Amino acid sequence: MRDKPNIVVIGTGGTIAGRGESAANTSAYECSVLTIDEILAAIPETAPLANLRTEQLLQIGSENFDNGHLLKIGKRVSEVLKDDSVDGVILTHGTDTIEETAYFLHLTLKSPKPVVVVGSMRPPSAMSSDASLNLYDAISVAIHPDSRGKGTLVVANEEIHTARDVMKTNSFKLEAFRSPYGALGYVVEGQPRYYRAPSRDHTMKTEWSIDELHALPKVDIVYAYGALDEDVVGSVASDARGLIFAGTGNGNVAERIVAPLRAATRDGLHVVRASRTGNGVVIRNGAQPDDDYDWLVVDDQAPQKARILLMLAMSSHPHERSALQAAFYRY
Ligand code: DGL
Repeated sequence: MRDKPNIVVIGTGGTIAGRGESAANTSAYECSVLTIDEILAAIPETAPLANLRTEQLLQIGSENFDNGHLLKIGKRVSEVLKDDSVDGVILTHGTDTIEETAYFLHLTLKSPKPVVVVGSMRPPSAMSSDASLNLYDAISVAIHPDSRGKGTLVVANEEIHTARDVMKTNSFKLEAFRSPYGALGYVVEGQPRYYRAPSRDHTMKTEWSIDELHALPKVDIVYAYGALDEDVVGSVASDARGLIFAGTGNGNVAERIVAPLRAATRDGLHVVRASRTGNGVVIRNGAQPDDDYDWLVVDDQAPQKARILLMLAMSSHPHERSALQAAFYRY
């Protein structure tokens, strides 16, 4: 019989692995310098919670991540989860793109075991750093039976978020993470308290397994603004197969952009209307006649996460636009 749960903690860098010159450096510091062992050694309170095994998979700021990093992280987490002696996985990660990696894992891992992605807004060296508490809370969440079957979770600032919804919404404050419909729960004194569960399909119920993914199709994002020029469509990478158009308001597209986007669609690019507002739904056939133009809409997903979902959907349905649209309403 085991004394404690077995948790694997995988380090990838970020602010949680950062170090400032002085404790007053809460926002200016060097990122991705502490190893995962050094980070954990500074939090002795974690030792009684679980048997912690560590791995240093990467040591880079998450703003540098590309699709190759997503695949590498996903495949390693999947391998670790297959070990029967492992009860859960924690991934330490820079906060800039934490929501993208977490969502990718949420859609592609095939295990009910808890996977918690965690970072911090201040490095461990800073005054009032959130690094220790976030990591301590992440372990508390990973070992708790209520965390099973909820997909990938992001723990920050005493809150538990579903990877589907969470977004970094502030560039420097501790309360940076928000989910449009609220967190799933809190962590209070090391005890997770859940108040709701993810309702959209994830992990065991998705059509994708990280073990079978070897490459992801290129999807670009175009961000709309008042004076957006029609040439923008031509600046999309020539090898892109999909385009998330982060339109104004309800996924609006300026009149001058419609013709180039329609031409790109006829050439085989999947165009998905999203909103740059960060909240709310984009109505199909609302601001634009999507049926006529063969365009897609994101439902409520943020552009950066719509990119993840579209890449996965295109990996199983490269040409079938109705199947791609269905994915946005299902996940
Ligand atoms: N370099 C950024 C990153 O790794 C730092 C942001 C952070 O971790 O809070 O995402």
